[in-house]
Amino acid sequence: MIKKGIILAGGKGTRMSPLTKAVNKQLLPIYDKPLIFYPLSILMLAKIKDILIIVNKGQLHQYKKVLPDGKKLGIKITYAEQKKPKGLPDAFILGEKFINKSNVALILGDNFFYGQNLTKQLINNTRLSSGAKITLHKVVNPELFGVAKVNSSKKVVAIKEKPKKFISDLAITGLYFFDNKVVKYAKELKPSKRGELEIVDLIKKYKKNNKLTADLIGRGGAWLDTGSIEDFYKTSSFVSAIENRQGFKIACLEEIALNNAWIKKNSIREAIKFYGNCEYSVYLKKLIS
Ligand code: DAU
Repeated sequence: MIKKGIILAGGKGTRMSPLTKAVNKQLLPIYDKPLIFYPLSILMLAKIKDILIIVNKGQLHQYKKVLPDGKKLGIKITYAEQKKPKGLPDAFILGEKFINKSNVALILGDNFFYGQNLTKQLINNTRLSSGAKITLHKVVNPELFGVAKVNSSKKVVAIKEKPKKFISDLAITGLYFFDNKVVKYAKELKPSKRGELEIVDLIKKYKKNNKLTADLIGRGGAWLDTGSIEDFYKTSSFVSAIENRQGFKIACLEEIALNNAWIKKNSIREAIKFYGNCEYSVYLKKLIS
C-alpha cells in the first residue's frame, strides 16, 4: 500500500500574473476554497495520511495560514521549500528523506479530479507494489499536456510531453504512483531543452523496464487542469454547479477525515473556530448536527 504522498505546489505561476505576484497559485480560490484543498482531498480519499507539501521558497507562511494543522485532519503534513521550479521530478529529490524506503504518490498542486468511482480507483492505485502507474484522461487539446499512446491491451507504447504533432488524445494527468526507485531515477535525469527535469523522462525509465501501467479516468470522471485564468473560472463553475445542486461540498477536508474515522466530531468544532464565521463553517456545522 502507498501510504505517502507529495503535493507539488510551487511553480512560477507566470501564466496567471498579476494574480500570482504576491499569492501562490495554489492558494487562489476554486469557487469556495483554495485550490490546494482539492489535491489534498484526493490524497486523503486515497487514504494517504503522510503528506509532504512542496512550496516555493518564501511562501511557506502563506500555506500554514490557509491549511489547518495536519493533526486536526488526523494526518501528518510536512512542508519543504523548492528554491527554483526545476521540474516535477525535483519533488522526489527534495522529498528523498520523506520518502525514505516507501513507495509514493505525487499529485500536482493545480490538478482537479472528480468522479463517481474516483475513491475506489484511487485506493486501487495505492496497491502498487512495484513499478509506476500513470492516470490518463481524454482531452481535446493534447498538445498542452504530457500524453500517452496506449495499445489495444492498454499497454503504454509512447509518451511525449506537449507533442506538436498528434500522437494520442490521452493526457497524462498530474497524479502518479511510483515505487521507491523513483528517487534514484529522478536523480539520474538531465534537464530538457527548456531547462527542467521532465516527468515524462522519469516515466519513460519505468516504461523501458516494462514497469509502467496506466489507469484511465473514463467519461464519467472529470479531470481539470487549472493552468490558466480561464481554467480557474471553468473549474470554479463546475464546483459551484455540483455543490449548489447537491448540497455536498467537493474537497471538504474535515468531512473526508471524519468519514475516514481519522477525527471525531470535536475536531470539526475546532475547525469551525479555525475557519470562522463563513459558509464553509456552516457546512461543517451541518456535518455534526
Ligand atoms: O497537469 C498535468 C500536466 O502537468 C502533465 O500532463 C504534464 O506532463 C506535466 O509536465 C505538467 O505540465 P504543466 O505544463 O501543467 O506543468 P507546470 O509547469 O504548470 O507545473 C504543474 C504544477 O507543478 C504547478 O502547480 C506548479 C508546480 N510546479 C511545477 C514545477 C515545474 C512546482 O511546484 N515546481 C516545479 O518545479
